[in-house]
Amino acid sequence: MKGEDIVSAKEKVNIDWENLRFDYIKTDFRYISRWKDGKWDEGELSEDNMLSISEASTALHYGQQCFEGLKAYRTKDGDIQLFRPDENSKRMAVSCRRLLMPEVPEDKFIEACKRVVKANEQYVPPYGTGATLYLRPFVIGVGHNVGVKPAPEYIFCIFCVPVGPYFKGGLAPVNFNVAEYDRAAPYGTGGVKVGGNYAASLLPHEKAVKAGFADCIYLDPLTHTKIEEVGAANFFGITKDNKFITPQSESILPSITKYSLMHIAKEYLGMEVEERDVLVDKLDEFAEAGACGTAAVITPIGGIEYKGKMHVFFSETEVGPVTHKLYDTLCGIQIGDIEAPKGWIVKV
Ligand code: PLP
Ligand code: COI
Repeated sequence: MKGEDIVSAKEKVNIDWENLRFDYIKTDFRYISRWKDGKWDEGELSEDNMLSISEASTALHYGQQCFEGLKAYRTKDGDIQLFRPDENSKRMAVSCRRLLMPEVPEDKFIEACKRVVKANEQYVPPYGTGATLYLRPFVIGVGHNVGVKPAPEYIFCIFCVPVGPYFKGGLAPVNFNVAEYDRAAPYGTGGVKVGGNYAASLLPHEKAVKAGFADCIYLDPLTHTKIEEVGAANFFGITKDNKFITPQSESILPSITKYSLMHIAKEYLGMEVEERDVLVDKLDEFAEAGACGTAAVITPIGGIEYKGKMHVFFSETEVGPVTHKLYDTLCGIQIGDIEAPKGWIVKV
């Protein structure tokens, strides 16, 4: 389906919005564009949620693929808006360059996001349910190729799924342990959003869950002394003197939520903000801590288990007051209840 595509909704969907989890369901349309002979085609919406690709695709063998995650939000007056899609587009371009894949131009990326959301409008959760429409853009290397070299062809696709909280309980604190594995190497691909980082995280994640934790914390791969990531989210801590602290490292994914929270903490809540090392054996500098990301939103960290000892921050059952304010302000901006900084909101 080309050109103006479908804007009309199919029959109303019957979804229990309040109880949605972060699970796949098939929505009606996804956007697909193909790159061949040096250029992207116009792209189209498709009802088919299956991709047919060469068995020799680099995405299957050599991990030549990257992805993004962003959300569409329903406002009080029924509009739909995206949160900082330009930042996802820019980050995806960095990932593509790192893996020698063609970049998707920003206007094409944002237009594709809008088309997918419009075509699946009935899946955008109602205002006030806490649920959102998660968009998953990705680029994969396809075409016939067997040597370790960049693919001859690429697919850029965006599908969408209505989702609830990524970590069970939403704003209820959850506990993490410290992984005995690294998710990325020094000077490797930790700072870009490529599938290989997530493949490396599957085993440590499963071990953490089996041990009773929501997920695991990754330390810096060189010295194993500094906190880097909280599963598939960034870490932040609030010091006892009310500073917003978040780790800085080349192997951390530059979280759009984290940079948004740094701005919110400074400009909306008047806090001091610092991006710097967070030592895993100095956790008592923090009164509160949290994980942040598109899927995780803000998930308060109850405690972190490290070397057999549990360090509890504010509480294992209650969200701390600063984390709560950050959450309310971020979500308020995303759903249009609080005025956003210029350029953060793109109407669909
Ligand atoms: N860190 C990792 C490893 C992630 O997968 C994500 C999710 O995208 C994040 C952090 C959070 O990034 P963002 O806030 O841009 O979603
Ligand atoms: C996101 O927050 O968008 C993520 O990519 C996290 C995870 C679902 C991979």
